[in-house]
Amino acid sequence: MTDDAAQPPSEMTADLETITSLAKRRGFIFPSAEIYGGFAAAYDYGPLGVEMKRNIRESWWRSMVQERDDVVGIEAAIITNPNVWVASGHVSEFTDPLVECSSCQGRFRADHIEDGRCPTCGNTGTLSQPRRFNMMLSTIVGPVADESGRAFLRPETAQGMFVNFENVQTTMRRRLPFGIAQVGKSFRNEITVKQFIFRTREFEQMEMEFFCHPDSSLEWHTYWKKERLRWYYSLGIRPQHLRLRDHRADELSHYSKATSDIEVHFPWGWGEMEGIAHRGDFDLTQHSNHSGKRLTYFDPDTNEHVVPHVVEPAAGVDRILLTLLLDAYAEEEVKGEKRVVLRLAPSVAPVTVAILPLSRNEKLDPTARRVHSILRPHFRTQWDDAQSIGRRYRRQDEVGTPLCVTVDFETIDDDAVTIRERDSMEQTRVPISGLVAALRERLDALAPVVPDIDEISV
Ligand code: GAP
Repeated sequence: MTDDAAQPPSEMTADLETITSLAKRRGFIFPSAEIYGGFAAAYDYGPLGVEMKRNIRESWWRSMVQERDDVVGIEAAIITNPNVWVASGHVSEFTDPLVECSSCQGRFRADHIEDGRCPTCGNTGTLSQPRRFNMMLSTIVGPVADESGRAFLRPETAQGMFVNFENVQTTMRRRLPFGIAQVGKSFRNEITVKQFIFRTREFEQMEMEFFCHPDSSLEWHTYWKKERLRWYYSLGIRPQHLRLRDHRADELSHYSKATSDIEVHFPWGWGEMEGIAHRGDFDLTQHSNHSGKRLTYFDPDTNEHVVPHVVEPAAGVDRILLTLLLDAYAEEEVKGEKRVVLRLAPSVAPVTVAILPLSRNEKLDPTARRVHSILRPHFRTQWDDAQSIGRRYRRQDEVGTPLCVTVDFETIDDDAVTIRERDSMEQTRVPISGLVAALRERLDALAPVVPDIDEISV
């Protein structure tokens, strides 16, 4: 399923421009502070985007924490003791080689330069020698604006788990193997920012550090590759748009013994959505050396202290959201007209059921409101009564709403409504008394079929 040679990827229907435009037009994602001309690589999530992000996070949290016995969650500070970043290696190693153009003052990643030519002004012979540029964003903490207050905005959530290893292990009385998970914002002063929300300076990560005995760490690495792929299938992403790729030795991060990426076939080529790294004992050893605190695990069976090894599945919420939009997008011809539809799985769709009163009308309104109040506790609903019913169906298709419920004048007499399905466009009359069950059944039928972990080969 993951071997791209065996299964060539089908092209995504949408290009990035189409998705960027839909995201803005329909209230998913706006350029940040657009009224001031925006801000490079910063985006604001609108009402539908924010719902989708919540769905992604909640699905991840359910599968990584709540449905498991061996993982617990934390929320660590974004700005913490700067020594954390010295110990983690980010102060010395988290750098990109940059060149500067003496003609236009542009800065570029040295490995992105072709023919010694400046990518902006096109001059040759104006680029400096590469210099190391640290990608952490920093700030000054406290009332005195000098270097003594220098602190960093975390470039990954992972270190929060390492520095809390002992707190969590002892308070939760954990035995190996166990994991600590966290979802939250991370910040990097990325130099090359393009491709919409694929690479931004402020983004959200979902990371889990799985602490295990060194003898079983390779097995756990394989397990997490499969389990994480399974989760992406559960979001409905087409398997042919996903692949697993092992890093070459020269690509590995400073902490990693082995890393595999779950990659997506984006319109511009394969790109990372999640890294699954074998971090060995690097982080606990580093923090132990720098803090002077022993960060080991006492194995009661063998009476030995071991430094656990760590397997880390690390994903980005924003990249997953972009992938879902690209993968779900389809254009079709219906009765001679173009229909745009996002075939999102119900678990991630911003709205699962839209309530559409046939018209804005005093007689219809109380019945339609009653239907909405019946459905609201069970589904992510949206009330939509503007424009013709046909246009409203198209609008809901374009934002991926799986089901619409139309309340018409007959409803007042027969206490029944029409369910209209996004994918088949089929319409069925259903009594209000059985509406919740009928909708639930249809949403369940739309949920992706997820293979068993043993059926996934990596
Ligand atoms: N703790 C390991 C770590 O941070 P990473 O591969 O640098 O690993 C993990 O980041 C994930 O975070 C990536 O696979 C990606 O989804 C997301 N990510 C990283 N940098 C990003 C950026 N600048 N913009 C958006 N997402 C980013």
